[in-house]
Amino acid sequence: MATLRLGDIAPDFTAQTSIGELKFHEWLGDNWGILFSHPADYTPVCTTELGTVAKYSEEFANRNVKVAALSVDGVESHKGWIVDINETQETTVNFPIIADENKRVAELYDMIHPNADNQLTVRSVFIIGPDKKVKLTITYPASTGRNFDELLRVIDSLQLTAYHKVATPANWNQGDDCVIVPAVTNEQIPELFPKGHTEIKPYLRVTPQPNV
Ligand code: BEZ
Repeated sequence: MATLRLGDIAPDFTAQTSIGELKFHEWLGDNWGILFSHPADYTPVCTTELGTVAKYSEEFANRNVKVAALSVDGVESHKGWIVDINETQETTVNFPIIADENKRVAELYDMIHPNADNQLTVRSVFIIGPDKKVKLTITYPASTGRNFDELLRVIDSLQLTAYHKVATPANWNQGDDCVIVPAVTNEQIPELFPKGHTEIKPYLRVTPQPNV
């Protein structure tokens, strides 16, 4: 499989997981999705990552995001490790962890980077839209835990663009001004952005965040 690019359809698959068989597209339904891989079960950084994702479950649910993790370990390993994650991270893992022992999904999503490690998945993240298209890809090294606040921030930005026709500037955070996308004409602005806007340059038009 060639590297997945933004706008590509996220490959569908059926896999065993910690909560039973999962048919990926069917399971996503009309939701947004995050699929993220980690190198191996019973490893320290991964333990903190999965605990963090469990603690953020309400944040993901509020944004209609379903989350699935993946490693190349098996279902029984995942189930045993989840007990440890729940204990050490003081949470309850309530999302599926895909058991990709034959590396089928890892190959579909190009999650094994042989020059880093030819057996284990790197820390890949795919954000997938309700149209099943890939909206974001990030690849982190095994030694660096991901920033899940950043993933929530990207989801918020993607949803603002999808539902409110704004983009988000550098270092944007919830509540900051947004940028009106170039496809919106000046004539459309009053109806779409009743909070008003400022034209700094004809190509740089900012408006208060529409959905707060
Ligand atoms: C970890 O999750 O702690 C980890 C996994 C592989 C290499 C380094 C760290």
